[in-house]
Amino acid sequence: MRILTVFGTRPEAIKMAMLVRHLNRNPHFEHKLCVTGQHRHMPDQVLELFELTPDFDLNIMQAGQDLTDITCRILTGLRTLFQTYRPDLVLVHGDTTTCMATSLAAFYAGIKIGHVEAGLRTGNLQSPFPEEANRLITDRLANYYFAPTDRNVEALLREGVNPNLIIKTGNTVIDALLHISQQVVGFSEQVADDLQQLFASNRKILLVTGHRRENFGDGFIQICEALRELAQQLPTLEIVYPVHLNPNVQKPVYEHLGDLTNVHLPPPMGYADFVYAMKKSWVILTDSGGVQEEAPSLGKPVLVMRDTTERPEAVEAGTVRLVGVHRATITQAVTELWNQETTYRSMSEANNPYGDGLASQRIIDFLTSVVG
Ligand code: UD1
Ligand code: UDP
Repeated sequence: MRILTVFGTRPEAIKMAMLVRHLNRNPHFEHKLCVTGQHRHMPDQVLELFELTPDFDLNIMQAGQDLTDITCRILTGLRTLFQTYRPDLVLVHGDTTTCMATSLAAFYAGIKIGHVEAGLRTGNLQSPFPEEANRLITDRLANYYFAPTDRNVEALLREGVNPNLIIKTGNTVIDALLHISQQVVGFSEQVADDLQQLFASNRKILLVTGHRRENFGDGFIQICEALRELAQQLPTLEIVYPVHLNPNVQKPVYEHLGDLTNVHLPPPMGYADFVYAMKKSWVILTDSGGVQEEAPSLGKPVLVMRDTTERPEAVEAGTVRLVGVHRATITQAVTELWNQETTYRSMSEANNPYGDGLASQRIIDFLTSVVG
């Protein structure tokens, strides 16, 4: 079977890396990797870490691209590619516009689609935007569904998907996390000296990531004001926020937080460095999907700056709390963890509902059964 894996952003690269490594080595498949280049720099760090070389690169990224730019450039790029290289199956991941546009391009070309991380839902098309729509469209077009959890399987069944086409796998992010976290014992030399020293100290570090489109504008102002207030009210707390490369994120973050001595704003970290940073942090404050799945495995309390989540499993398990995108609720939640050791302890009991590190193997087993 000829399989083409397509991804374009940092989280897709991380979550598909182990599957791509397995596929490359498996004699049942002729496997090729295509990157769309929706992100240019951040996935390149991941490819290097997992020693992956793309066979095709659509190289679509433009500074300040909008959703129409990304979609159109992927559709035309893949139309051209499919004229010269036609796989039997395209594998896509998650909910990015790369995932949705690739599925549409494959559907137009009559090529089957396997969706990794199928069945996640918030039920709200505006949150996260446009990801909820992207995954609904992808799941409507897909032929095979690799669903991380029981809840994801149930969502697909409710939507009328044939149960024989759904495989419960666990989340592939745990495959990558376990692979890297077993190896990582410190930062690489890419991380600046002041951060190396900070993470080697016993200071309490609040690790922050934030980049969601629906938070651009007022949401980011609220986040920045909350971080400013926390940095001033808790002077012994150190806040580390590796800033996403999107200019809509960089501008408010550097403008509002650039002058505080206990707020550190490094560029995005390579995955191994970020895993080390998560391990050494006190608490994680994020709006990221992937970080919500990883941090519970590392026994770190996670405060999620969103009103809804498609990943309620860790909220139910008690390690993740939704705090919204409001200055007061964010500061209150961090302050509570700072002051109340019992709350901190109950949230940091390691409890990982997302998998055992074998999700990629389950996908391979299913694909092998299809070939056989
Ligand atoms: C995208 C995904 C989002 C995912 C996020 C992960 C969509 C619509 N959004 O959002 O689901 O959670 O990635 O990070 O698919 N940039 C660079 N270099 C990079 C990456 C980005 O310079 O390596 C800058 C560029 O100016 C680019 C901008 O960031 O135009 C925005 O990138 P884009 O992929 O459109 O949106 P994200 O916010 O990154
Ligand atoms: N991550 C990273 N470096 C960073 C911040 C995050 O490697 O500086 C990793 C993180 O561990 C997770 C993934 O990037 O696996 C999440 O990506 P992102 O937050 O961009 O996207 P989302 O998961 O929200 O789609």
